[in-house]
Amino acid sequence: MATDQKSQKIRVGPLKASELKEADRIVRLAFGTFLGMPDPMAFMEDRDFLRPRHRSKNVKALAAWDGKRLIGSNFVTRWGCFGFFGPLTVLPEYWDHGVAQKLLEATMGVFDKWGIRHTGLFTFASSAKHVGLYQKFGYWPQHLTAVMVRTPEANPARMPDLLSALIKAEREEVIVAAAKLTHRISKGLDLTAEMRSVLAQKTGDVVLERRRGVLNGFAICMTGAGSEGGKKICYIKFGAARDGKAAETHFGRLLDGCEAYAALKGAVVEAGTNLARGEAFRHMRSRGYRVTTQGVAMQRPNTEGFNRTNCWVIDDWR
Ligand SMILES: CC(C)(COP(=O)(O)OP(=O)(O)OC[C@H]1O[C@@H](n2cnc3c(N)ncnc32)[C@H](O)[C@@H]1OP(=O)(O)O)[C@@H](O)C(=O)NCCC(=O)NCCS
Repeated sequence: MATDQKSQKIRVGPLKASELKEADRIVRLAFGTFLGMPDPMAFMEDRDFLRPRHRSKNVKALAAWDGKRLIGSNFVTRWGCFGFFGPLTVLPEYWDHGVAQKLLEATMGVFDKWGIRHTGLFTFASSAKHVGLYQKFGYWPQHLTAVMVRTPEANPARMPDLLSALIKAEREEVIVAAAKLTHRISKGLDLTAEMRSVLAQKTGDVVLERRRGVLNGFAICMTGAGSEGGKKICYIKFGAARDGKAAETHFGRLLDGCEAYAALKGAVVEAGTNLARGEAFRHMRSRGYRVTTQGVAMQRPNTEGFNRTNCWVIDDWR
């Protein structure tokens, strides 16, 4: 591990709300620089991954400082008994001095405190540095995750069924049913906090796929100013369809709902899935989703988790 002078004075702790503006600048500068963008600050345009996460109860935001100067951050997310982290960024002038490793030590501490053993991340498959960095912390590279985009039909055939439109009692019932649905996919996987957060912050909605009172799918969609999707994108942060014989039908109808919601918002749909979920990936490709970015999923321990065949799940862990 790097123990040069620069790394010895680095401190790590909780990121304060007053530091979000600078953290956001570092995120754009770091990714934009790594990707060789002519204007690094244009990275992710109007999308905001930090403020909504900082306000979410299931997310811990970590900062790295050199003295009082903010030089990096990481966001640690909990979905029940599964956790992931990112965006992890370090100010470019501090790269290769062990700052990310200090943030990652603290990140592992957060998972330990939460009692979470199954965690993952999404990173650049072609970068030996990225893959090597995470391997140091016990992560192993697995299948690619493809992030895809589709422009929805302008006039959807039906209105989307939205969680925000339900009365409180019904909403609570749906949230419980969603946790049961994900629990069947992976024991303890729970998106309850993420669902509540998107509604409370009005950073999108949860699209539902229900038939005869049964919840067969749901998708947490983030869109609009100040959200993870921004004004032009309806980003499906997580979506899942009920497993079983009719899974593909549920999944297709769920995507119909997401596309209808995106059309109402004047946005394109962005949705990712891991390629180990072959059926879900092929279904999305066949309905016109085009891959715009791909990265590799790394997991600790090196097990398939819910990245496996017959898993009708949308997520990318960015
Ligand atoms: C990726 C990033 C966070 C790393 O931050 P950093 O502070 O430079 O990383 P560190 O110095 O703590 O760790 C670098 C480690 O990478 C690993 N590494 C570097 N080059 C490597 C190579 N060629 N092969 C294998 N491992 C390599 C090593 O483990 C190295 O640590 P060591 O030399 O002490 O053993 C930073 O470069 C960044 O902000 N990049 C842009 C945004 C980004 O890509 N974020 C991550 C997205 S998943």
